[in-house]
Amino acid sequence: HFPKVDGFVRSDPGGFVMMEEYARHAEKVYRFQPRNDDVWVVTFPKCGTTWTQELVWMIMNDCDKVRGKAPIIIRSPFLEFPYMLPPGTMPAEFTKMMVTLEMVEEMPSPRIIKSHLPFYLLHPKLLDTCKVVYVARNPKDVIVSYFHHHQLMEVHGFVGDVETFAQYFMDDERMDCSIHSNVPLFNVWLNFFFSHVFPLFPHILDAWNKRHHPNMLFLFYEDLKKDLRGEIEKVAKFLGKSLSEEQLTDLREHLRFDNFAKNESVNMEAAKQFGGMKMDGHFIRKGKTGDWKNHFGPEINKRIDEWIDKNLKGTDLKFVTEL
Ligand code: A3P
Repeated sequence: HFPKVDGFVRSDPGGFVMMEEYARHAEKVYRFQPRNDDVWVVTFPKCGTTWTQELVWMIMNDCDKVRGKAPIIIRSPFLEFPYMLPPGTMPAEFTKMMVTLEMVEEMPSPRIIKSHLPFYLLHPKLLDTCKVVYVARNPKDVIVSYFHHHQLMEVHGFVGDVETFAQYFMDDERMDCSIHSNVPLFNVWLNFFFSHVFPLFPHILDAWNKRHHPNMLFLFYEDLKKDLRGEIEKVAKFLGKSLSEEQLTDLREHLRFDNFAKNESVNMEAAKQFGGMKMDGHFIRKGKTGDWKNHFGPEINKRIDEWIDKNLKGTDLKFVTEL
C-alpha cells in the first residue's frame, strides 16, 4: 500500500508522498476505526477547516458555548497530527496538549474528527460508516493562505516569496522527492509534510467524486462566505439536527470572521506562548475570497489559471475565485 521511493514513501494509488517517519504510522492511521456516530471534517489545509470544525462541533453539541470554550484541538482532534512531525521538533508544552490516536479511540461519542489526509489514506470504510463534511476552497486563495501559514509557523522555515511558493505548490515535478535535493534537510523534513505531501487536485477531486455519497457533504469556503446562515442550515440538516431561530442567529454571529478571530478557543493565539509561531501573524488571518489578487502578478496568475484548467479538464468541478 505504501511503496518506498527515494527514502520517501508514496501511496498507491494517489501519489501522496510522505516521509518515512509518517509512513511508520500511516498504516495505523489508515486502520483507525471510525464510529457510526462520528462526524469527520476532512479538508486540504487552509480551506476553512477550523471554521467548519467549530460549526460542526456547535451543531453536534447543542451550541454549548461553555463547553465550547475548550480549545478546538481538544474538542475536535486532528487525527494524524501526532505523527506529522518527527519527535522532538515540537515544543514540549504543545506536545502535552496533543491528542493521540489512543486518546481519540477513548473519546466519548459523538467525536468530531479533523483530518487533512486524502480519503486514500483514511479508513476505506470511512464514508460507509459515518458522516463526513469535506470543505474545498479555490486554489488561488488556498495558495495565498498556505503561504502565510508557512510564514506564521516558523517551523516551516519557508523563506521565498509568494510567487515562488505558488510555483512550488503547482509544479507536479516538485511533488517528487527529488525536488528537495536542493533544499536543506531541515526544510525537507518540515516543508514536505505541510505543503507538498498532498497534491491539492487529487485530494479535492477524489472527494468531489464522492460527493453524492449519502454520508458526504461537500462544502465550499466561498459558499460559507456568501451565505453562512444558509450553510449552517445545510450542515444541520445533513447532521440530522434542528436549530432554533435563536440558535441559528447566534451561531452565525459566533462564526462570523470578526468574532471568530477573537475567539481564543479557535484562533490559536495561545500557541504563541510555546514559541514557533510569529507574534505578529494570526492563524485566523484575513478570511476573504479573492485575496490572491493582492498577491499574484499577471504572469504567475496566468500560470495558476492554466494549472487549474489542466487539472479540472474533464471534470464538472468549478471554483469561485471572487465574490
Ligand atoms: P486566510 O489565510 O485566507 O485568511 P484552515 O482552518 O483550513 O487552516 O483555514 C484557514 C483559513 O480560513 C484562513 O484563511 C482563515 O482566515 C480562514 N477562516 C477561518 N475562520 C474564518 C471565518 N470565521 N470566516 C472566514 N474565514 C475564516
